Amino acid sequence: MTGLGPTSHRIDAALPGVIVGTGSPLATAHRRIDGAPKVTGAAVFAGEETPRGTLHGVIVGSPVARGRLAGIDATAALRVPGVVRVLTGADLPPLGPPMVPPFATASVPMTDDRIRHEGQPVAIVLAETLEAAEEAAGLLRLSILREPPTVFETGSSRPPRTQGNGYAFAEIDQESGDVDAGLARAAATIDATYLAPTRHHNMMESPATLAEWRGAELHIHTASQWTFGVRYALAGLLQMPPGAIHVRCPYTGGGFGAKGYVWPHQLLAVLAARVAGRPVKIVLGRDACYTGTGYQPVVRSRVRLGADAEGRLTAVEHVSENVSSTADDYIEFGSAGTRSMYACPSIRVRTRIVPADVPTPTAMRAPHEGPGMFALESAMDELAERLRIDPLELRLRNHADVEPIGGKPFSSKKLREAYAEGARRFGWAGRDPTPRARREGRRLVGTGMASAIMSTFRFASTARVRLAADGTVRVEAGSQEIGTGTRTILAGIAAERLGLPIERVTTALGATDLPETGGTFGSSTTMSAGSAVADAADRLKARLGELAGGAVPPPADWPSLLARRGVAELVADGAFQLPGGVPFDAHGGAGTHAMHTWGAVFVEMEVDEELGVARMRRAVGCYSAGRILNPATARSQMIGGIIWGYGRAMLEESAMDARHGRFVSKNLSGVHLPVNADIPRDIDVSFIAEDDPHASLIGVRGIGELCEVGVAAAIANAVHHATGRRVRELPIKFADLL
Ligand code: MOS
Repeated sequence: MTGLGPTSHRIDAALPGVIVGTGSPLATAHRRIDGAPKVTGAAVFAGEETPRGTLHGVIVGSPVARGRLAGIDATAALRVPGVVRVLTGADLPPLGPPMVPPFATASVPMTDDRIRHEGQPVAIVLAETLEAAEEAAGLLRLSILREPPTVFETGSSRPPRTQGNGYAFAEIDQESGDVDAGLARAAATIDATYLAPTRHHNMMESPATLAEWRGAELHIHTASQWTFGVRYALAGLLQMPPGAIHVRCPYTGGGFGAKGYVWPHQLLAVLAARVAGRPVKIVLGRDACYTGTGYQPVVRSRVRLGADAEGRLTAVEHVSENVSSTADDYIEFGSAGTRSMYACPSIRVRTRIVPADVPTPTAMRAPHEGPGMFALESAMDELAERLRIDPLELRLRNHADVEPIGGKPFSSKKLREAYAEGARRFGWAGRDPTPRARREGRRLVGTGMASAIMSTFRFASTARVRLAADGTVRVEAGSQEIGTGTRTILAGIAAERLGLPIERVTTALGATDLPETGGTFGSSTTMSAGSAVADAADRLKARLGELAGGAVPPPADWPSLLARRGVAELVADGAFQLPGGVPFDAHGGAGTHAMHTWGAVFVEMEVDEELGVARMRRAVGCYSAGRILNPATARSQMIGGIIWGYGRAMLEESAMDARHGRFVSKNLSGVHLPVNADIPRDIDVSFIAEDDPHASLIGVRGIGELCEVGVAAAIANAVHHATGRRVRELPIKFADLL
């Protein structure tokens, strides 16, 4: 929580070409101010802190996906030198009911003998060293009465219950018009099923928690995207006042959603510390990252489209099914994008759950629209081919000027401009739609495009700005820096509002002792925490005016003003509130305007016909996402998202052994992720200049997840254009192209 300020890395705020039109980036846009501390090791992550007396905890997980735990023999484990205790369910205190979310699962581990998934914690070994704890963990003898597991392929689907991640039916199952009549009168129809597989977050920093009790106060350093969520989940489970729980996480080494909710290892570290009477640190091993902190569940989508001869949609239907655990209905809302993407009089979206003996899934960049838009945008490409209409033209003919179901106006939407600019940058015009028409030696070359859409999640948030006697400013907000540049953005917002150089601003982020914000997820942080910082800075300025008895003096005079008035420090609190005072809003549901972010993605693929090897040659993404505050960090974020989408399209799949209900690869060497050699240099990112008057106080919406959406469909569409092969199951494999 040490104050962290920028050094000397100003950037050209108007990075050429990134913002199309007259944009208004921050005058104080800056390179990432957390870059130097991260690469020099000055940034301390949760797993790196080891106070004197800390015990190292290793969680022992069930190797079996379903069954009953009959007993644990710890005799050999306890003989390992340095081992202090082996905790089982019998050692843990009684707990309150979990509040789901922020606790990720309704099934609290080690509270009964039921085994619900592979890796479910059954014991914790505590030792003076990590090595001793790991050795002993391997010596624990578990007696488990196995039962055959159900997996996605063998399970059956049902409507979700309203729990888990909390979507209500009214949200996920929507309908307008008469879909069957729309299909019946269509000149062309598409009815196809698409599969987006289970994938893991594979974040670089393993989830880690250091828990320390100081009397009745609990102090936790934990890798998290939502310190306040950790506080609330633990307060409920431990039946403690939230204010007695202090959670900090100044840096998060990647999360992508896996650190958004609160997972069992965080609770278990806290309970172990209480039982042992010493600080306890648990760092999940890499294998536990595949069973202990969620994943993006496999999504099967059936999409039916109908259109008239001119390509105007007469019916859109999207039914998606995703796997979830037996304890929780995690809803992967695969039709979230379909509901809002195109103008159509008849739309029906449904989400179904397939309960199985697997760990509980969670949000992963990009949830919902990510897997779902692969299906819709592939189907749109199939429809364009059927109707002999250019795929981009088909999208333009169905452009939604208002929210298709319900008719709310959009807060701001520059998708037409994004299509046009993306097409121009890519060179889409004049494309020969014929598959297999372009050949270079044994390589077939094709191009494809897709639309992108992402929900606009917003959280009521607060922030504080402090002006010190020396004229420096400190920005305080609970939000986490998850690697996306949050510190840089929040410092920049305060600096701009106050008219200060950003070098005079430091940040304190990532702690429940700071002003409360929403979690750093859902692409929401700049809108939510950023608006609160802007409000706090405005209030600070107003206080300065009052203090001066008139106009606000220039910043150089602030130290003398404070000295003259005998004020040691001037503090202002700011807030970002949502309509009706709700704590959370998705896509503008609480207010008068529908809110989404939008984009157009174009890619060129080449496929070696003999080897089936497909490569991306270049990609263009052009986006409508509100005001872009920092072109450098925004562009970087979008490039990362396009690469992430390439991973979805071409590489990533967490295969499960269906007989045992176990994930096959549980380390980074066995997981296919994009590496530099996979990725072309030529990734072109731009944003249409925009200022959204409704979504936030500062003109912005969000970008962090939008950039992943549409990429897989654009790639699959380009592969079809190159080869004539329509691949409807991701990832696209060699065998699909031979
Ligand atoms: Mo993101 S999947 O909301 O961290």
